[in-house]
Amino acid sequence: MSSPVLGIHLSDTEMRLLQTLVYQECGMYFDARRAHFLRDRVQRRLRERRMESFYGYYQLLISAQGRQELLLLLENLTVNETSFFRNKPQLELFHKHILHDLISAKQNRGEWQIRIWSAGCSTGQEPYTIAMLVADALVYQQLRRPSSGETSWPKPLIPSPWRVEIPASDISYSVLRAAQEGIYNQQHMASVDYNYRLRYFDRVGERYAVKKAIKEIVHFDFHNLKTEFLPRANDVIFCRNVMMYFDEAEQRRLLEKFYRCLAPGGYLLVGHAESLLGLTDKFAMIFRNSGTAYRRIEEAG
Ligand SMILES: C[S@@+](CC[C@H](N)C(=O)[O-])C[C@H]1O[C@@H](n2cnc3c(N)ncnc32)[C@H](O)[C@@H]1O
Repeated sequence: MSSPVLGIHLSDTEMRLLQTLVYQECGMYFDARRAHFLRDRVQRRLRERRMESFYGYYQLLISAQGRQELLLLLENLTVNETSFFRNKPQLELFHKHILHDLISAKQNRGEWQIRIWSAGCSTGQEPYTIAMLVADALVYQQLRRPSSGETSWPKPLIPSPWRVEIPASDISYSVLRAAQEGIYNQQHMASVDYNYRLRYFDRVGERYAVKKAIKEIVHFDFHNLKTEFLPRANDVIFCRNVMMYFDEAEQRRLLEKFYRCLAPGGYLLVGHAESLLGLTDKFAMIFRNSGTAYRRIEEAG
């Protein structure tokens, strides 16, 4: 079915061309149920650019000069919903079990570096939440080892000799700009309890700014999960509420890539409505108190 809206008409063939282009570029798959959203957003871009033919617009999208417009279109197609401390049961599993085990194992090996990637980080609430939880866990671990002898004052957010890196990436430049700024309003802060507000945010009028020490360990960058190049040696990958917009073939490809760029025994955390079931047998599921995570299985020998 095609629909004429404000004089701009998109035929079924044109819609298919668009679906394919978007899928090839970023993995997002607009099936019949979501086709109206794709059509609406493209029509919006056509109006904004004052273009009257889909053909001209498509030619632009596939040309080298149209790269910027293609990114803008993709940005218009993403769903950026997110919040601090989203999916509490899973974060509890992450905080109390995964981080605890990871820190102890690294400590025993004399390794002092932790790297956690937030893939599809939207406006930053997810990686900042991770940073707060890691800082908490390391301080707690330090308190249990009084012999560790941290003497500097004020105490650093990340106790020495630990080094924490939280790369955070997204395909949308506008969400990355907001994430980098790290300033949130009352509504955004609804899920952040008093303790965390006090320790990790500065009040700026009616809003809250993430403290510099937290911002220093989170590094935002543009990254498209469709590409073959993925940052390596991650202890944990959070990729929550992103895969659900991909089709099954793309989900399988992404899980293969995640497997390769996790450290041995590393963990993958996906969204509440997402699952690895039937997609791969390279991860073992961990389930505790309604929280789910997946652990990379190591090949024998
Ligand atoms: C619904 S938000 C999820 C944010 C956060 N992970 C959470 O669960 O709260 C999905 C994010 O994935 C990003 N995204 C979609 N496709 C992507 C791709 N191919 N590569 C990187 N990021 C992508 C979108 O721009 C969006 O910000």
